[in-house]
Amino acid sequence: MKKQFTLSVLLVSAILVLASMSFDEETKTSQRNFIFSMFNDEPALPETPFDYGDISFPAHINSDTIETGYEGDHIDTTILDIVQDDKSTLGRVLFYDKKLSAMENMSCATCHKQEFSFAEDKDLSEGISSLTKRNSMQLNDLGWSNTDGFFWDMSFSNLKDMIGLPLKDENEIGAVIEDVVVKMNATNYYPELFEKAYGSAEITEDKIVDAIANFISSMVTFNSRFDQEANKGFVGFTEQEMHGLELFKENCGTCHKEGSFAFNQMDHSNEIIFELPFLFTNGLEKNPEDVGVGEWAPGFDGLYKLPTMRNIAETGPYMHDGRFETLDDVLDFYSDDVVETDWSFLIPPGGFQFTDSEKSDIKAFLETLTDESFLTDVKWSDPFASIVNIGNTEVLEVAISPNPMNSYAIIELDNPTNELVQVELYNEVGQLVKSDSFSGSTYQLDKNALVAGMYNVRLQSENKYKTIKLIVQ
Ligand code: HEC
Ligand code: HEC
Repeated sequence: MKKQFTLSVLLVSAILVLASMSFDEETKTSQRNFIFSMFNDEPALPETPFDYGDISFPAHINSDTIETGYEGDHIDTTILDIVQDDKSTLGRVLFYDKKLSAMENMSCATCHKQEFSFAEDKDLSEGISSLTKRNSMQLNDLGWSNTDGFFWDMSFSNLKDMIGLPLKDENEIGAVIEDVVVKMNATNYYPELFEKAYGSAEITEDKIVDAIANFISSMVTFNSRFDQEANKGFVGFTEQEMHGLELFKENCGTCHKEGSFAFNQMDHSNEIIFELPFLFTNGLEKNPEDVGVGEWAPGFDGLYKLPTMRNIAETGPYMHDGRFETLDDVLDFYSDDVVETDWSFLIPPGGFQFTDSEKSDIKAFLETLTDESFLTDVKWSDPFASIVNIGNTEVLEVAISPNPMNSYAIIELDNPTNELVQVELYNEVGQLVKSDSFSGSTYQLDKNALVAGMYNVRLQSENKYKTIKLIVQ
């Protein structure tokens, strides 16, 4: 093992530098961006965690504004007391971390994007090997608006049980928990984040799931115009929005209940499907191929979850199969194309027969349910997105080339005082495959017995570090 760099290394690097000078400048730059931005390994987290836990429900959620006919949902506002800053901080990192997936190419956020209220702008999402069976769902307000019916077919009644599914589904994250734990332990941030959130640095599946559930539960959209206006009797609503609210209440509100705009099942269990099945169908088609609830409750074919209407203007395409591109398409359907099914009691066969101006009014009202701040608030954003690490983390300036490498690569780093540098190589599943140290500013990494694939090279000197992806061909 090389403890110091030799003359030959110097020669090789000199040749490399010369060689790189004759490379096309554009190729060189894009390769660098590739390494440093796409695979930047350190989440940028604030010194003091963002405020996730202090959630105040708007007063109107539990009150009725008699004059306008608006009815709150009368929900238990202590339900989000579980949300804690440190748990949600960890959950945020996990939600966005591609390291959880075996090929490091997918995170929850691949299909649940903040700009679309954590849904995706595609009818079906691209999984690891195939398209998902159904449309990706928005995650806003999930922690309080519908606490026991998850997925379009409502097959899961507990958010935490449910999260294990995408986490381990081979077409979604496909996490192999034992490997993920090894990888996480090899980072210099996860043990600390787990310690802060759970009082112990031990990494377990239960904690991973709990932290993600905590982060999702923190996602509330209480800054919408609707919320502001509902608290003061809708004085600032336009005539059109007010008319839209009335039409919505009259025609849609039985199912999409006011306040949460989901069917709030907090006081019920899944039994509700058996008691009020007509709530869970809107007459899309008579004999659907995807039977929804019918998959686990025989006889209830064609019933699907009622998602919240909060932020609905941002989450298209719509319905379980993403069949409608826009809200206009949705309103055309409810107006003219509703099919009579075994369970359709609340929607007249054929549809509500809205006029064009009624459709525009309902749409205008639905748009008041958008919380713009939710779509950009940094506390729900990707902590791995920033190229430059912020905060007080010190980072080594490192470059590896060539990358992808064939027989060897040269690591160059900024080390003017010749500190001892520890170099470690982890394979795709986070196992340490090589460890060495050197002092100086270049190091030659030889292929030797390394199999082709993706590796993480971690360099540490004193309290500075950097992890870089390396492809071995
Ligand atoms: C490949 C795309 C994809 C990935 C990756 C993915 N999801 Fe999903 N998610 C979906 C789809 C599609 C659905 C709807 C599935 C269904 O109903 O059959 C869904 C549904 C959900 C729901 C249910 C929402 C509701 O209203 O019932 C939650 C919660 C959720 N995902 C969280 C996660 C978390 C957490 C992760 C990461 C561990 C994740 N998802 C990763 C596509 C994805
Ligand atoms: C009988 C109950 C019922 C009524 C009444 C009803 N809906 Fe729905 N709505 C549903 C169900 C169930 C779904 C999910 C259907 C699916 O995906 O297959 C749904 C889905 C939606 C969606 C798509 C949600 C998403 O995330 O993709 C929108 C938008 C919507 N409804 C708006 C309305 C409007 C506007 C009205 C009134 C004009 C209305 N609904 C009336 C039951 C109802």
